[in-house]
Parts: sequence; structure tokens; C-alpha cells
Amino acid sequence: MTRIALVTGGSRGLGKDMALALAGSGVDVLITYATQSDAAADVVAEIKKLGRMAAALPLDLRQISNIEAFADELENTLSGTFDGRPIDYLINNAGMGATIPMTEATEQQFDDFLNVHFKGVYFLTQRLLSGMNDGGCIINITTGTTRFCNPGYSLYASMKGAVEVLTRYIAKEYGHRGIRANVVAPGPVETDFNNAAIRSNPQLKERLAGMAALNRVGQADDIGGVVAFLCSDAAKWVNGQRIEVAGGINL
Ligand SMILES: NC(=O)c1ccc[n+]([C@@H]2O[C@H](COP(=O)([O-])OP(=O)(O)OC[C@H]3O[C@@H](n4cnc5c(N)ncnc54)[C@H](OP(=O)(O)O)[C@@H]3O)[C@@H](O)[C@H]2O)c1
Repeated sequence: MTRIALVTGGSRGLGKDMALALAGSGVDVLITYATQSDAAADVVAEIKKLGRMAAALPLDLRQISNIEAFADELENTLSGTFDGRPIDYLINNAGMGATIPMTEATEQQFDDFLNVHFKGVYFLTQRLLSGMNDGGCIINITTGTTRFCNPGYSLYASMKGAVEVLTRYIAKEYGHRGIRANVVAPGPVETDFNNAAIRSNPQLKERLAGMAALNRVGQADDIGGVVAFLCSDAAKWVNGQRIEVAGGINL
């Protein structure tokens, strides 16, 4: 039976590459998007060109109450378009970035980062776990900045750090169902993230490149293959781990 992945934030950047890498490895894929429905539709078309089933659903994690309606819509889509099969893989990737010095962070910014990066991951995973196939996996996308510090990332990295702890708990609590949980922690990748900070600032790009042993910043296609590998049987004994995918940054 063909397996199914749900990739949150699959309309652009890393999530798009994960969706295409998973499709390329023979997996049917659902993606979510927050606002960019056209970009999401393009990803769906690309997945279908690879011969896999695909669909895109809206999900804005700034409002945790959106999760219930999303889960209902997911169930309808699985029954209508995916022959009623449950999902096997959940990739919690959706997110946004901002450089906010700690003294300037507002409570609203704290709550937005909390909701999208931690509370959303917690309650979406909680809501979907019971309906997931046994033997699948959950991959949470965090960041190199949980290991090293980048000024202005206190809010963002704190939430991602919480997700890393959560991931080990998911691995422990759901191992009896054969469900693995791992973290993929990218370093700086040239996407639209944080107002396309890397792409729009050559000095920043050069500085970040110099921090990696491989002497460049990441590209989206550095990440998707690792996610596809972790979902594959080749990674069947990898569980509760944090894998940094960052070209050897700050070694
Ligand atoms: N790029 C980096 O340097 C980097 C490094 C380490 C970790 N990461 C992590 O990798 C993940 C993907 O980042 P990216 O670089 O691919 O960013 P991106 O290109 O900006 O894409 C972000 C994705 O998340 C969705 N999204 C944004 N806000 C959302 C919200 N409030 N609720 C639900 N979905 C939302 C977007 O949907 P729309 O297209 O509809 O807006 C889009 O699909 C994030 O978790 C990020 O923290 C990125």
C-alpha cells in the first residue's frame, strides 16, 4: 500500500522540497499552506507529475483553534481523494522567522512564535496521532540555533528547543506503535524565511557561509532528501534523534 505523508508548510522553501523528495521516493503527499494557495497548487501539480497523489489544505497555526477544523478537512480529503487511507508520516515543518532582540520582543510576538512553532506542533501531533498508521514516523523541523546562538533568535530558538524535547517524548510514548520521532535541524538555508534575509543580504550570506565547514549556506534541496530518508525503511532504527543538516556549522 502506498504510504501517505502530511507536510505542514509545504507550499514553499524547505517544505516544498520535502514534499517533492517524498513524492520522488514513492509516497503520496498532502501539504498545508497558510496564505499562498497558488504556490501550494503548483506544488500539488509537481507532485502529480511525479505520478503520486497530492492535495493542499489551508492551516494557519497562529490560531490553535484552527487545528480541529483542519483535522476534519484532512479526514474528508483522505476519504475522498486518498481511498480512505490514514497518513503514515507527519512532517511538522511550517514556520516563520524574525530577528527580534530580546529587549524588543512583545507578548504578541511571543504568542505567535509559541503558537506556530510549539503549541501548534504539540496539538496538531496530538490530534493526528490516533488516526495515524502504526509503523510510520513524525519529523519535527527545528534549527541549528537550538545548539548555537544567533542574536535576535531567542523567541524562535526557545520554541524550537521545546519541540526537540517534545520529539523525544513522542518517540518514547509511541514507540509501542512502531512510530518513530526525530528532529531535523537545518542551519541557515536560502529561502523566503525571515523576509528572505539570506537572499537579500549578501554580507549576511557570506558571514553565514563562513560558519559552515562546507563554506556555503544551505539550499532547500539540501534538506528534503534527509526527510525522505528518515521516512524510509533505511532509517527504521533511527528514533528520538536530532540530525543537524547544516554543512558542519560552528563545529
Ligand atoms: N530557512 C532557514 O534558514 C531555516 C533554518 C532552520 C530551520 N528552518 C525551519 O524550516 C521550516 C521551513 O522554513 P522555510 O525556510 O521553508 O520558510 P518559508 O520558505 O518562509 O516557508 C514557510 C512555510 O510555512 C508556512 N507558514 C508560514 N507561517 C505559517 C503559519 N502561521 N501557520 C502555518 N503555516 C505557516 C508557509 O505557508 P505560505 O506559503 O502559505 O505562507 C510556508 O509553506 C520552518 O519551521 C523554519 O523554522 C528554516
